[in-house]
Amino acid sequence: MIESVGNGRMWVLSGSASSYAFCLTGADELLHLHWGPRIRGVDAEALAAQGPPPYWPFESQLDGHEEYPVEGGPRFVRPSLSVRTETVRGTEWTFGDAVVDGDELRLRFTDAAHGLGLTLHHRMRADADVIERWVTVAHEGDGPALELLRADAAAWTLPRRDRWRLSQLHGRWAAESLLVRSELTYGEKVLSSRRGHTGHQHLPWVALDPDGATEERGEVYGCALGWSGSWRIAVQQLPDGLVQITGGAGYDDSGLLRLAPGESYTSPVFAGLWSEGGFGGASRAWHAWQLAHVIPDARAGRPVLYNSWEATGFDISEEQQRELARRAAAMGVELFVVDDAWFGQRTSDRAGLGDWTPSAERFPRGLTPLVGEVHALGMQFGIWVEPEMVNADSELYRAHPDWVQHHPGRARTEFRNQLVLNLAREDVQVYLWEQLDGLLSSAPIDYVKWDFNRCFTDAGWPGEEYPQKLWVAHVHGLYALLDRLRAAHPGVAFESCSGGGGRIDLGILSRTDQVWTSDNTDPLDRLAIQDGFTQLHPARVMAAWVTDSPNLQLNGRVSTLRFRFVSAMAGVLGVGGDLAEWSEEELAEARGWVDLYKKIRPLVQHGELHRLRAPEGGLSAVQYLLGDETVVLAWLQAQHYGEQPPRLRLLYLLDRVGPPIRRVRTPRGVGCGYQAAADGGFPRFAARRPTTTRPPIRKCEQVAE
Ligand code: DGJ
Repeated sequence: MIESVGNGRMWVLSGSASSYAFCLTGADELLHLHWGPRIRGVDAEALAAQGPPPYWPFESQLDGHEEYPVEGGPRFVRPSLSVRTETVRGTEWTFGDAVVDGDELRLRFTDAAHGLGLTLHHRMRADADVIERWVTVAHEGDGPALELLRADAAAWTLPRRDRWRLSQLHGRWAAESLLVRSELTYGEKVLSSRRGHTGHQHLPWVALDPDGATEERGEVYGCALGWSGSWRIAVQQLPDGLVQITGGAGYDDSGLLRLAPGESYTSPVFAGLWSEGGFGGASRAWHAWQLAHVIPDARAGRPVLYNSWEATGFDISEEQQRELARRAAAMGVELFVVDDAWFGQRTSDRAGLGDWTPSAERFPRGLTPLVGEVHALGMQFGIWVEPEMVNADSELYRAHPDWVQHHPGRARTEFRNQLVLNLAREDVQVYLWEQLDGLLSSAPIDYVKWDFNRCFTDAGWPGEEYPQKLWVAHVHGLYALLDRLRAAHPGVAFESCSGGGGRIDLGILSRTDQVWTSDNTDPLDRLAIQDGFTQLHPARVMAAWVTDSPNLQLNGRVSTLRFRFVSAMAGVLGVGGDLAEWSEEELAEARGWVDLYKKIRPLVQHGELHRLRAPEGGLSAVQYLLGDETVVLAWLQAQHYGEQPPRLRLLYLLDRVGPPIRRVRTPRGVGCGYQAAADGGFPRFAARRPTTTRPPIRKCEQVAE
């Protein structure tokens, strides 16, 4: 809902439990007023009537108060917008008009000196507390080109509090999404990717709480960026203690795009959320919003998949994949995925990328017979691709060495023996469309795992007047390809993978059905990765595989099949072990876990997620709630001194008031408690103080141990 007051120069956007307000002064300064609990227009007017902050020498009265600080004039904060021509730098805007279009507000400004048009977009949907913000910058004049050095999607202003704590999700390959919290101090904290993709190093998200939020209580502000290229989020604590968070595409201010007359740039969405339900409440609000408004076809459950990458690597054949498919089907798998090495001369990572036709040696009859067999076994068929890359040893590179990003006269860096195609080029776009559309038309493929296995290093574009633009244009090219493929092949689901979790963000999630969370499939390490991942994203997109023990891919750790399954069942379950080596007992046990997962899948993939205990303690657990059913997955690590395992306090099930029920136990070692319909008896429980209003749990069963 959008309320406009103050002679049409003040706006209050309200969602299900929160409001966001800002206003224009007589001098066309756009000042932030409120972000937090719901307010009305009169409250916003009262806030505006409080007048300007005190005057302090050497400080700006605008800093920390503007909704979108531009470069120039009396400002010293990091600008969100930085534009220049050859002679003029900075922006002086004049307010144009405000348009309310459903749940979106558009404010238009112009800068006559540049011929620049700037539109600030704010959208808050009635069923959510997420504010979606983005900007459009257009060259509306006929003068010289405008160089857009920086155009953040938004600047967020937090209310005044005594202190703030910053939460972030940092990582690296095989250790993504690890949650850390630290006190925010004066100055700037910058999180970014300068790699051309979202990166393993940070999820583009921050959360700030006024030092004291818990998992279920307290105020939390969060911001998340929907962009799959290089990006920057800067959290600034200003001299007077106010905090602003800016974020957008590009990792610095050295140039995003050059706009000729008639051209425009639309930033990605930078979304913000306020919650007073603690970190858990904030996560659930993010999840609900993504499931309702970001992730395509989110109501559909994701199938249990099998993928042999960890087991077979590049050594694959049609017959081997058939045999694995038969075993996977017997286990109850629903989607069989052929990973790397099915195409061209791809027998190692040294060759073949770019040549997207089945290998004549490994698939002499093409993919169709295998797809047919997989379908006959009752499973969907999936295929791996890495379209943005090329090996130097490939037909494609031999034919088009100029299609890769490179600087003239400079070395071409090969990470994992591969180069990055310049997706900003029209001819590359055409080639990839033809290859991928051809692949998806050649056989009834149901799923594509879209990988990206190296960062940008030599982002040059010989012959192009403004090569810098490829950083943004590459991402737009990727999005355009995905959008076109989804439109042409609506039955095909897509997974975003980048050497594990190197491309997880709201932008890619608006075009993909799930993400590969991490190449780390060790079930213990995964608990922390998954805990971090679910701070922002729902379990519905968090792919997790059960692989072999010992975990030879990473750390040699030995773990039970039970632990591996229960760890992976916290997201979209997959199996990635060498089934040819699994014993009959293991296959039978696995079948049982897959069956169980299918029963609890609606709760895991679409239920409310409550992190009961974080993985750093000896016992961690996640509880999912959907309607009147609940599931608890719990993991117990090694205990010291013969101590009893800690007790697990379940939500809504704490204090029984009815006849005895089977106790939810935490098994020694690792395991899970599973709550679902059992004997039809409905035990009665008094709920532990809920943070949301929901019906009592009516069904309860324990099947662990
Ligand atoms: C990296 C991915 O994360 C793996 O799952 C696998 O698909 C390999 N690439 C294949 O090269």
